Amino acid sequence: MPDTIRVGIAGARFAARFHWEGYRRVYGVPVKVVGVTSKFPESRELFARERGIQAFPSLEALCQAVDVVDICSPGSTHEPLAVEALCRGKHVVIEKPFTGYYGPGSEDFRGNTFPKEVMLREALASCDRILAAAEKARKRVCYAENWVYAPAVEKEREILVKTGGQILWIIGDESHSGSHSPYYGIWRFSGGGALVGKGCHPLTAALHLKRAEGEARNGKPIRPATVSARTHEITRLKNFRDAGALRTSYDDIEDYGQVHVTFDDGMVADIFSSELVMGGVHNWLEVFANNHRTRCNLNPVNALETYNPREELLKDVYVTEKIGTKQGWSNPAPDEDWQHGYPREFQDFMESIAYAREPISGAQLARDTVATLYSAYLSAERRGVEIEIPQ
Ligand SMILES: NC(=O)c1ccc[n+]([C@@H]2O[C@H](COP(=O)([O-])OP(=O)(O)OC[C@H]3O[C@@H](n4cnc5c(N)ncnc54)[C@H](O)[C@@H]3O)[C@@H](O)[C@H]2O)c1
Repeated sequence: MPDTIRVGIAGARFAARFHWEGYRRVYGVPVKVVGVTSKFPESRELFARERGIQAFPSLEALCQAVDVVDICSPGSTHEPLAVEALCRGKHVVIEKPFTGYYGPGSEDFRGNTFPKEVMLREALASCDRILAAAEKARKRVCYAENWVYAPAVEKEREILVKTGGQILWIIGDESHSGSHSPYYGIWRFSGGGALVGKGCHPLTAALHLKRAEGEARNGKPIRPATVSARTHEITRLKNFRDAGALRTSYDDIEDYGQVHVTFDDGMVADIFSSELVMGGVHNWLEVFANNHRTRCNLNPVNALETYNPREELLKDVYVTEKIGTKQGWSNPAPDEDWQHGYPREFQDFMESIAYAREPISGAQLARDTVATLYSAYLSAERRGVEIEIPQ
């Protein structure tokens, strides 16, 4: 039995909560979440108190008590926190987006008009600084992309690998009615909009499946080669009529993104993401292979179909992420964390650290995702021109 892995979380809100739950479901590897740090003392102390763990005033103090730092803070903080933790000899878990470009530090920076060629170059340099720090420290980098571990995507991976299938086309989408985080919508914190915040999920799942296909058949991953993309700021158009059902408070990001990826075997994927979809999160991926077709429904799923005559009745019942109303027909999620892949994600991360092996969602997949997303922004800046993704 390996020694207990001591985990510290950086960030004390939405993602930190489901990461905490994910660690509690790890089995066979002893894991203890020791503490939390975050920007604001009140939120970290509340998070710690509610869970019986310690609140640390800084990353430095947290690092003294843990083996793994789990980064659940805004994208703009991922590289500095990860590099500091790695330099202090800790393994890191990094939420999406792995990293990106957050501006030169000036107040007048506006991401939607800033040159995307610079962003692409700088985002990749940021990836490389994290990877170099990990290599120097000889520590693991776990990329917290839960779609890789969603049971529906894992099952498709099994079908693909065991049948020797070839994926010809993937189409996927993550959309909802707008992120809750105050950091989201401001490029210097989030590193982009719908594309980076939501499209990253189905995109990484698509990249993961093509990697798995290549590795299974030829021992070599199939990787993204080119991208064409469009982005739009629909809720800021002067013709947009706000009916109050969608979040609209975005600063300098897109609320719609569409990405067409070609892989190095010539096959394709189309990924959509938006902040324009009501009725709960809309997370799905469809795979068209040469020998099968699979639709992965992450959310909603119809394991339950409930009719509720009065909103009030389900006030204490969690139904599903971002559902606008609980009245009428809905699909309450029986175990949303499981559907989204969180328990399997933290299981793999902890096993990868305990047994010194690469996690399934690791640094190379993270880097390919960042390269594809920021190449997509460059394409969108050029109104859809095909861009070669830097390898
Ligand atoms: N995988 C998913 O499904 C999913 C879902 C939501 C968010 N996320 C990702 O998780 C991360 C956090 O998002 P969130 O929704 O929890 O945001 P949030 O706004 O709810 O919480 C952010 C937390 O980070 C803390 N923070 C800010 N700067 C910090 C710093 N320098 N050091 C330490 N803590 C700092 C804040 O105090 C806050 O506690 C983002 O990267 C986001 O993209 C992933």
